[in-house]
Amino acid sequence: MRIYKAKDYNEMSRKAANIISAQIIMKPDAVLGLATGSSPIGTYKQLIDWYNKGDLDFSEIRSVNLDEYKGLDASNPQSYAYFMRHNLFDSVNIKLENTNIPNGLETDIEKECTRYNNIIKSLGGIDLQLLGIGNNGHIGFNEPGEAFEKETHCVKLTENTIQANARFFSSIDEVPTHAYSTGIKNIMQARSILLIASGEAKAEAMYQALFGPITPTVPASILQLHNNVSIVADEAALSLIIKKNLI
Ligand code: F6R
Repeated sequence: MRIYKAKDYNEMSRKAANIISAQIIMKPDAVLGLATGSSPIGTYKQLIDWYNKGDLDFSEIRSVNLDEYKGLDASNPQSYAYFMRHNLFDSVNIKLENTNIPNGLETDIEKECTRYNNIIKSLGGIDLQLLGIGNNGHIGFNEPGEAFEKETHCVKLTENTIQANARFFSSIDEVPTHAYSTGIKNIMQARSILLIASGEAKAEAMYQALFGPITPTVPASILQLHNNVSIVADEAALSLIIKKNLI
């Protein structure tokens, strides 16, 4: 595991974008595992900037997103499908048919999870999986307590996650209670992983994930067992780790 320290969100975003762009340059038809939320917005902005300068080409890139709220359709501004178009896909030359996000409107859970797992398999697996981390140590929507061996599944979101995500909705009652998420097994099968984190609120989760015991109560702790993980985090997110002199 390599830990790259950034001074703030902007530097974290630039360093993370550098790692993703290296992947795109080295393998123009790479399969990128993508994340939503506030952490990757700056990274996506930087990638768009380099695309506009002619340094990046997304025309052969394939993507699979980590998760989607259950019950939201792709045109809903709170959906992750909308987020991806707004924050990345509409601004680069990726082909929309090469992008994949769980279908939040599918009510047949087993059917949707099987469909999504099959997509990942048919793409030959994920080359680079981008991850954020929840305040409670979740990755994707794999909440504390979920089995490490799970593939795509439907998750009941914890109160903590609903509250953390309420900032994107006009009221907490509008936050969906369930989501489709790829599982820890899908994430761990990625050939490389890039986890980004910014802000003091992530400090405890980062310490537990990177230096605590490997346990389902901190889903991100499983990353300690992956052989190709890069962590890019700002000083605030690493503050507890720095304070304990671990890096
Ligand atoms: C998003 C996702 C989540 C977020 C995490 C952090 O696709 O899977 O695990 O990465 O909740 O969210 P932010 O970046 O908003 O702090």
